[in-house]
Amino acid sequence: MTNKNHRLSTRAQENLSEPNIMLDGVRKVNSDKYDADTNPNGIINLGVAENQLMTKELTKIMGTVDHVNPKLFGYSESPSGSKKLREHFANNIFNRYFNPVEPVSFDQMVLSAGCSATVDNFTFCVCDPGEGIIITTPFYGGFNTDIMVKSKAKVVVCDLGDCLPFDVSHVDLMQNALYKAESEGIKVKAVVLSNPHNPLGRNYSREILIEFLRFASRNQVHILYDEIYALSVFDDKLVGQAKAEQPGSTPFISVLSIPDLEQYCEKDLIHVAYGMSKDFCLNGFRCGCLLSPWNPELIDAMRAIAVFTWMSSPTEAMITKLLSDPNTIETFTQTNQKRLAESYTLAVDTLRAHNIPFLPAQGGHFLWADFRQFIPRSLTVSAAAGERSAEHLLCRAMLDRGVYVNWGEAFSESKVGFFRVTFAVPIPMLKLGLERMLQACQGASQEA
Ligand SMILES: Cc1ncc(COP(=O)(O)O)c(C=O)c1O
Repeated sequence: MTNKNHRLSTRAQENLSEPNIMLDGVRKVNSDKYDADTNPNGIINLGVAENQLMTKELTKIMGTVDHVNPKLFGYSESPSGSKKLREHFANNIFNRYFNPVEPVSFDQMVLSAGCSATVDNFTFCVCDPGEGIIITTPFYGGFNTDIMVKSKAKVVVCDLGDCLPFDVSHVDLMQNALYKAESEGIKVKAVVLSNPHNPLGRNYSREILIEFLRFASRNQVHILYDEIYALSVFDDKLVGQAKAEQPGSTPFISVLSIPDLEQYCEKDLIHVAYGMSKDFCLNGFRCGCLLSPWNPELIDAMRAIAVFTWMSSPTEAMITKLLSDPNTIETFTQTNQKRLAESYTLAVDTLRAHNIPFLPAQGGHFLWADFRQFIPRSLTVSAAAGERSAEHLLCRAMLDRGVYVNWGEAFSESKVGFFRVTFAVPIPMLKLGLERMLQACQGASQEA
């Protein structure tokens, strides 16, 4: 009998056997989306990092773009983004908000159809198949897809166990992970990290950003700082108890703002990823950016493959309009941060009231919470042994109640029972989503 898989390439066959738990979750939720008027029993999405707080403002800003302008029917200026849009990214985003020591310019970046595409293209350009990229746990699960699915590089998981990645000592664990990978024949080519951190919602300190640079230099690997949540840092907008209970604040520091980078790392190894999905709430538009100010060869290599991830002309036109006006960006960002702070406050007040431990967040759309107390007792033994079914059961109970929350496995967290809760949804929806989540937890704890 013919095995149909044999009609596919080996790399495509590999992808058939790899489940994508993040995308499976998204599909499930999007097929039965909650809507207060038309589908009140649908699923409230507190699992995906989509910020729904600025919908009205965006609709107004985008509504002024001429959608059927005949120019938009054709290919846009360049697969790697028009000069104008790249200038807006340089002047109105990076130079204005990232505080770079050396101002960045349009020719140091390549745009693509989403930051996922940016990380995939970056991987394609720095890794041959089978080579490795180190990431510490827990990490944004999409990096697995971006690094492994097309470019066929490997994610070298550096499991931090009980440590949080905000302590410099964990760089030693990264070094061990690198040695171990190399002893297994995996050549490590890069480190990827997100700052602000997804899923932990906190910023790295200057000290640790510098330790990462030293690590990259010592091992001669690239370092990609994914700064896609840079303008979603909200902790200075907190008030009352939420503010009082925040631990010491670490401001967002872009790697671009660190003076004398060359004293820590060769500058051609340092790169930044950004995109429109998070700070501008435009997940569906698909626009990402790789900024590599000191490695023109990488930029040329990225340009050579940009045709496959070319943004659509209408998308580019609308984003160009949005980013053309620094005042619009500033008002949008301030309002967004204020709303993130309000939604975060409701989420943490609710978690505190129910004695659910969490890591206080400073930025991003989510917080990291410890749901281990709700894992049914019958499953705690298997949970202690790292058996994920306990976590899946809790997740399923939440889905049955009509809310989707993302579970630790999707972030390669080795401890079972941690969840990432997205709070960047309008307050009434958030309230109902958290209520449903708690009902599911209470149901599970009766069994526990
Ligand atoms: C840290 C990080 N990088 C990249 C992405 C992907 O962004 P995009 O929607 O632009 O592909 C996400 C989305 O959740 C993210 O959290």
